[in-house]
Amino acid sequence: MNDSTPVLAASGLKKSYRMGVETLAVLRGVSLTLHAGETCALMGASGSGKSTLLHLLGLMDRPDAGEILIAGEPMHGLGPRRAARARAARIGFVFQQFQLMHELSALENVLLSRRLAAGAPWWSRGAAERAAARAALESVGLAARLRHRPTQLSGGEQQRVAIARALVSKPVLLLADEPTGNLDRRTGEEVLTLLLARAKEQGAAVLLATHDPAVAAACSRTLRLHEGLVVIS
Ligand SMILES: Nc1ncnc2c1ncn2[C@@H]1O[C@H](COP(=O)(O)OP(=O)(O)O)[C@@H](O)[C@H]1O
Ligand SMILES: [Mg+2]
Repeated sequence: MNDSTPVLAASGLKKSYRMGVETLAVLRGVSLTLHAGETCALMGASGSGKSTLLHLLGLMDRPDAGEILIAGEPMHGLGPRRAARARAARIGFVFQQFQLMHELSALENVLLSRRLAAGAPWWSRGAAERAAARAALESVGLAARLRHRPTQLSGGEQQRVAIARALVSKPVLLLADEPTGNLDRRTGEEVLTLLLARAKEQGAAVLLATHDPAVAAACSRTLRLHEGLVVIS
């Protein structure tokens, strides 16, 4: 990838859900491009397809049609194993509901993600991986919470663990689906500031779904989904 290759280039993405005899066309030809260092808010009414689009771009689901290039490499045709490997190495994902593993400590949650990206077995003892996980948690202000389990952390702290997990392997693309939606306003602002600052330090491109105009205002660009298409605002 040279400097002008977009981190993400998606074109003509279509996705429908079949519900019995009815087909719900959620995305009807969505195209977007993101460059390194850009932070883009993805807006649109509830049900407009923001999560659906992020799941396609995060290689968690496959489009019915269209192309997804990450750092210039096609991703839309990959089988599940190769998609999982590409996702672990190149993409970080932050969910509204944090989605941490409840049996694992903060450190282990981040370490698991780091080992997957490094192609190391989950039980490996690699000191380098452990140091990277610890550094990622320190960078989100959780140096004193390494051994805490998710249930022993506040919502804002859980989301900071999730941000550390998403960024520990220096992904080129960070996708976030309403990352502040489960937090009170003040905690949400702190978490958003942290997410954008850490992503910027690493040069990652950010696509962040939100319906909060204040969140969108913190991003450098906004795209809006309406009736299955991107409307540039
Ligand atoms: N797995 C699914 N099966 C059927 N319909 C779905 C599924 N996921 C989402 N939908 C529908 O697709 C539309 C878009 O959903 P979603 O992408 O979650 O929107 P948003 O994140 O913008 O609120 C909604 O009408 C939703 O009900
Ligand atoms: Mg959603």
